[in-house]
Amino acid sequence: MVNWKYSESIESSEIVNIKKKYQNYIGGKFVDPSSKKYLNTVSPSTEEILSKIPLSNQKDIDSAVKAAKTGFEKWSSITPQERSQYLFKIARLIQERSREFAVLESIDGGKPIKESRDFDLPQVAANFFYFAGWADKLDISWSAKELKPYGVVGQIIPWNFPLLMLAWKIAPALATGNTVVLKPAETTSLTALHFAELCHDAGLPAGVVNIVSGDGSTGANIVNHKDINKIAFTGSTHVGKLIQKSLAGRDVGLTLELGGKAANIVYEDAAIDQAVEGVVNGIFFNQGHVCCAGSRLLLQESIHDQFIKKLEKRMQTLRVGNPLDKNTDIGAINSKEQLDKITSLVNEGVSDGGDLFQIECELPGNGFWFRPSLFTNVQPSYSIAREEIFGPVLTTLTFRTPEEAIEIANNTEYGLSAGVWTEKGSKILWTADRLEAGVVWANTFNKFDPSSPFGGYKESGFGREGGRHGLLSYLKASL
Ligand code: NAI
Ligand code: MG
Repeated sequence: MVNWKYSESIESSEIVNIKKKYQNYIGGKFVDPSSKKYLNTVSPSTEEILSKIPLSNQKDIDSAVKAAKTGFEKWSSITPQERSQYLFKIARLIQERSREFAVLESIDGGKPIKESRDFDLPQVAANFFYFAGWADKLDISWSAKELKPYGVVGQIIPWNFPLLMLAWKIAPALATGNTVVLKPAETTSLTALHFAELCHDAGLPAGVVNIVSGDGSTGANIVNHKDINKIAFTGSTHVGKLIQKSLAGRDVGLTLELGGKAANIVYEDAAIDQAVEGVVNGIFFNQGHVCCAGSRLLLQESIHDQFIKKLEKRMQTLRVGNPLDKNTDIGAINSKEQLDKITSLVNEGVSDGGDLFQIECELPGNGFWFRPSLFTNVQPSYSIAREEIFGPVLTTLTFRTPEEAIEIANNTEYGLSAGVWTEKGSKILWTADRLEAGVVWANTFNKFDPSSPFGGYKESGFGREGGRHGLLSYLKASL
């Protein structure tokens, strides 16, 4: 086989103006943190320090919550049509500045430009458009007398889809008449801080959106604030449980979108080449930093050897490297901490007795990288079959009968998503009915649409984002 080499095709970063230092956005103004403290944000593909972001403290959160409370008076007094117009305006501004945001997302977070450009940003705009359309139709969907906005909503988001998680949180919250204090993750705050500029340009009334950066302590200050009416969190199950404990006994709404360890089930009658493609997409999309990643491949025993051979061949064609190269399939791991976690779980998998396949490729000298990896010969008790690795690592288990597939698939504390591959429609329905997962994809994986609700079972959390269900997460029954 001729080993064709790809020529580089680097997206220019000139379109983005990364400031040396950022401010919080509170009450319609850009303000320094009263803590006077900052965190460095680095590019995970080069380890270069890109900028400084505020490490906000209790005082900063106090003023953000106060601003959101004042903003709520204004936001709830304007008509639903006006709220809708603001959301449409934000959606259009996102589209206009889409390239800038995509490049910034890839630089600050490490994801390939083809994903930030063709997946994240179009989805961000689509969510604002979708919820803009709902803002003035709430009273015809439910009785407006029965449902009211919470008021001030605290939103804490992770680093895997920084701007998209912001859109999933802010668009439905604003459409339903709430105001927000949002904290992005400490490794990927830049797109949220640029989004603050966009809200400003859209002329959004002061205090409706407040963006405050910081670490876990900043997030805890939001959760514990006495004037917060609802918390929406996406992140680790560990922190989700801490938040739920902190809110016990308080009249504060809560939705949690936590971890996952999804089964991607391939039956022997599946279209094998398509399934291989879907399995690759299911785990290697966004370096595997995906809560709904298909990280457990469940193969029917009769096709195991054939499938693994094809899968390894396909994996070997994945291109790992510079996130700004348009050819790149797998970018950088988001942080040193995440790389250490992936490395330690993979080492544990090997010492437990799993067979590890990793692709051969050159890795850049600087930055955080992990080779796409596949484990076979795995027992369901191994950590790699149970814990969320949140990296480009796929674990294979086998089954003989559909009943056994369901038993293995559901044998996890998580329940966010699952995949089924078969030519038989009836088998898809039979399987989907029995899977304990919020989303089940059939003969595809990782497909998203703002109109489609997303959320978990069991320890993957509760509440839904997207669709009509997603609106209900931001409305409460009035007394
Ligand atoms: P994390 O859950 O600590 O961070 C998520 C967000 O929560 C960040 O904005 C963080 O600043 C904030 N936070 C941290 N501690 C908090 C607290 N006590 N109160 C309020 N907010 C707090 O996740 P981390 O440490 O970055 O990643 C650890 C593991 O979690 C990953 O390896 C992965 O397995 C999982 N994870 C899952 C995600 C998902 O979407 N399901 C997203 C991110 C991480
Ligand atoms: Mg960063």
